[in-house]
Amino acid sequence: MKQAKLIINPEYKIGEIDRRLFGSFIEHLGRAVYGGIFEPDHPCADEDGLRRDVIDLVRELDVPIVRYPGGNFVSGYNWEDGVGPLELRPKRLELAWNSTETNEFGTNEFMKWCQKANTAPMMAVNLGTRGADEARNLVEYCNHAGGTYWSDLRRSHGYQQPHKVKLWCLGNEMDGPWQMGHKNAVEYGLLANAAGKLMKLTDNSIETVICGSSNSGMKTFGEWEATTLDIAWDNVDYVSLHTYYGNGDKNIEDFLARSCDMDEFIKGVVATCDYVRAKKKSKKRINLSFDEWNVWYHSFGADYEKWSKAPHILEDVYDFADVLVVGLMLNTLLKHCDRVKIACLAQLVNVIAPIMTEDNGKAWRQTIFYPFMYASKYGRGSVLQGVFTSDCHDTRSYTDVTDLDCSAILSENGEEITIFAINRTLSEDGLLSVKLENFKGFMPIEHIAISGYDLATVNTVTAQPVAPHSEALPEIDGELLTVKTAPLSWNMIRLKKASAN
Ligand code: AHR
Repeated sequence: MKQAKLIINPEYKIGEIDRRLFGSFIEHLGRAVYGGIFEPDHPCADEDGLRRDVIDLVRELDVPIVRYPGGNFVSGYNWEDGVGPLELRPKRLELAWNSTETNEFGTNEFMKWCQKANTAPMMAVNLGTRGADEARNLVEYCNHAGGTYWSDLRRSHGYQQPHKVKLWCLGNEMDGPWQMGHKNAVEYGLLANAAGKLMKLTDNSIETVICGSSNSGMKTFGEWEATTLDIAWDNVDYVSLHTYYGNGDKNIEDFLARSCDMDEFIKGVVATCDYVRAKKKSKKRINLSFDEWNVWYHSFGADYEKWSKAPHILEDVYDFADVLVVGLMLNTLLKHCDRVKIACLAQLVNVIAPIMTEDNGKAWRQTIFYPFMYASKYGRGSVLQGVFTSDCHDTRSYTDVTDLDCSAILSENGEEITIFAINRTLSEDGLLSVKLENFKGFMPIEHIAISGYDLATVNTVTAQPVAPHSEALPEIDGELLTVKTAPLSWNMIRLKKASAN
């Protein structure tokens, strides 16, 4: 049996969890919008053409922010195409994903959807084919009350009240050669600075996110962040990180250790932000927006008809192995909650997503829906700075990988503890001993697990076998809680102060 030990104390915290850590992402890509959140002819569609069944599932996930409209898409997008009378909206060739964009759905429709889905928009502006002027016009269109050209245009489109969008991404993955309008670090830094400045002059309550590297494997990683932040420091609040992991070479132990890479990535970006801060002797602290993360590889190589509308692309069907990797990635984000304030699971519906739909048919929960849902629901309060030790193993790419991984959260009212624990060994039970220092009267109330499946088990429209189940409550003896975990298992253990029952 593999052993791990965690000591926690309510006084020792990594930091408070920003609710925006459990954000997600909707891009005009494949069937995320058309056939995903918007399908006017669907039996579940409401008066705005929005799928109610999808909204219900999004509400179940309790997603605080949703990034929109891209992604690579945004780097060629004219936001003006997507507002105003439908009959005047142009159809365009969409060059990021080789499809046709009809513009039936745009900024205002997205704002309506956000309200119904109980979430807030995180907008991205096009800094690929366009620039600072179009970006500040969009801020004026969305956020200015009225009495100016762009705000009155919004009102004439039927939206009297400003949308009050707080969070804005300054482009998308501008370091990537695949990106429309790809730039080098100096070119992008200057443009992000100019755009951020005009956008903040238009509405000084907004926050901006500068594009970091598209992933930590980029040749320019590190230099890109240092140079762009150096130039745009005064007009930026967060730097973005993106990463996707796959198991194309079928090395499961390596796949289950990918969160170690995510951990190093975060540490590297934090160090770079603080290096620029020290160099500038600035009092400001730039935090991190991990605004694209997920498992992505199942759909690689799928073919589709060029220039079709809403093609079936990037429709990864997630399996049980992905539950564990997503759970591990969530733990990594939680354990960096002092600096990672925003994160977006990419994406939300149909496209590398926890929610899948059939055109004109059902909507269902993919396997990865569950670890995300529980983290979003119970990842509220502060992450505890535990002292953690575990048996370890090496994989092909990583050394000293802990057999068990865990995070511990103290609720906002201080009366509940939630532990997320993943046993990533292939065949050994795990024993997690938790020493509860100064947590008098806390008793276990729930142990939920996802375990016992073949790693390749998937949820489909016809059957969704992968789902959480209840386990026997862990034993507690004085200060010592003992949690048994099955090999290859995701677990959530909740404790509550007895007097608070
Ligand atoms: O999420 C899918 C794509 O991945 C996004 O459009 C892009 O930003 C990233 O490369």
